[in-house]
Amino acid sequence: MAYCMIATKPGGPEGLIKKEFEIPTPGSGEVLIRHTAIGVNFLDVYFRTGLYPWPVNDNLVLGSEAAGVIEAVSPDIKGFSIGDRVVYTLPNNAYTTHRIIDAQHIVLIPDGISDETAAASILKGLTTYYLLHNSFKLTGEHTVLFHAAAGGVGLIAGQWMKSLGIKAIGTAGTDEKCSLAIEHGYMHMINYNREDFVKRVIELTNGVGVDVVYDSVGKDTYPGSLNCLKKFGTMVNFGQSSGSATDFKLADLAVGSYSVTRPILYHFTADRGWLENASKSLFDLILKGDLNISINQHFPLDQVAESHRMLEARKTTGCTILLP
Ligand SMILES: NC(=O)c1ccc[n+]([C@@H]2O[C@H](COP(=O)([O-])OP(=O)(O)OC[C@H]3O[C@@H](n4cnc5c(N)ncnc54)[C@H](OP(=O)(O)O)[C@@H]3O)[C@@H](O)[C@H]2O)c1
Repeated sequence: MAYCMIATKPGGPEGLIKKEFEIPTPGSGEVLIRHTAIGVNFLDVYFRTGLYPWPVNDNLVLGSEAAGVIEAVSPDIKGFSIGDRVVYTLPNNAYTTHRIIDAQHIVLIPDGISDETAAASILKGLTTYYLLHNSFKLTGEHTVLFHAAAGGVGLIAGQWMKSLGIKAIGTAGTDEKCSLAIEHGYMHMINYNREDFVKRVIELTNGVGVDVVYDSVGKDTYPGSLNCLKKFGTMVNFGQSSGSATDFKLADLAVGSYSVTRPILYHFTADRGWLENASKSLFDLILKGDLNISINQHFPLDQVAESHRMLEARKTTGCTILLP
């Protein structure tokens, strides 16, 4: 039986309901995928609540990363065949057992990487790739502050930064999360629910501040994040798990001639060359053993509402997977 989880209007997790459907046939340039594992991301919460505008009026299927097996291809498809294991990240329509997708968005999963690992890491891993390589070109010389370090993106970023020789400072909301992040590559961790993270970052950097802050928490951390920067430092704001930073003013940057950027993954993945190159870097790092994808929560697809409750209550660490 094919089914998806739909939201009929913006709202709480209880609004995610099961809907059965007939499996469609792929059109030109498309393939049919039977999903084997689907990633849960904070992005899904932004769409569910309506913080991000809906691309349809109702019956929005959330979910933006998944892996599976190709079950049908349109006759004009080159490079993919029935039976291939593939993975993708694209906004919405992934909370489903089967889906039709344009082949330009999928990549093959290499041997040695499981469907679950691929589904858990493609959105968060490609995000980490652009954060470290495009939004700011990190080298071993740079100092970094990375918020929500024990989360899905955070645990991947910690290990990736370590592989680049970066001694990153991270933040997280409990001491247990701080210990987990240390195991995943961070040099120093700050429990920002217990300690003033700005004061601690300034101490740890001998009064200088960091070259770059990666801030996906937003409202609660934004003013402090700017105060952690050294002169000419960069703030990369790539999310708002605590709410949007609405009081930002350009004049705030004058304090230290700072730069600020607000990137979105899908502006990078729209370039097929970038997608292939970044995916290869991600998979190579996993195969080399430098990057372990921590999948710390599993749910059946039809219990996705519970996964959203846990994510919003800050009760998850690492990645969360739905199993169809
Ligand atoms: N722009 C992009 O292209 C892009 C792409 C991917 C992800 N993102 C963003 O990256 C961030 C991380 O995504 P993720 O899916 O890996 O999520 P996640 O980090 O696993 O979960 C979010 C974390 O944010 C922290 N947080 C702080 N204040 C919070 C609050 N009021 N409510 C809920 N959580 C709060 C919590 O960690 P603590 O308890 O440790 O504080 C929580 O675990 C999200 O903001 C997401 O939107 C952006």
